[in-house]
Amino acid sequence: MKTASILALIGCLVTVTESRIYTRCKLAKIFSRASLDNYGGFSLGNWICMAYYESHYNTTAQTVLDDGSIDYGIFQINSFTWCRQAQTQEKNHCHVACSALITDDLTDAIICAKKIVKETEGMNYWQGWKKHCEGRDMSEWKRGCEVS
Ligand SMILES: *[C@@H]1O[C@H](CO)[C@@H](O)[C@H](O)[C@H]1NC(C)=O
Repeated sequence: MKTASILALIGCLVTVTESRIYTRCKLAKIFSRASLDNYGGFSLGNWICMAYYESHYNTTAQTVLDDGSIDYGIFQINSFTWCRQAQTQEKNHCHVACSALITDDLTDAIICAKKIVKETEGMNYWQGWKKHCEGRDMSEWKRGCEVS
């Protein structure tokens, strides 16, 4: 009993420390270092804008869709096509566990997002981007951040 409650407590602490809301400029730096600026022809601002409207920079964001699939993480990457979730049949194009897309280490999420841009030919995959970012001036999104 005691062990169980201690484990439960540790579980809670781990969950809390793993979730993170990045600031806009912190993300700008991470994205810039990961060579997202102009990846697939999309400037850094597009990536920051997209992440904002998809997840509000919440690395642990999860959204259950009507078909039972789940959108994961800062880029809201869907389990049906792109990552591996235990319960359902998936394509797992990114060869990654969905759980790896909701950690504060964005490496896997960025690799997968790059793959989506390549395989689907652009950022149309992201409804938040289409609705709020596409075709607009994206320079504001990196303003004041220490990125070129
Ligand atoms: C981030 O997302 C998680 C999972 O959906 C949610 O529980 C948490 O409240 C969100 N954090 C904020 C600050 O919105």
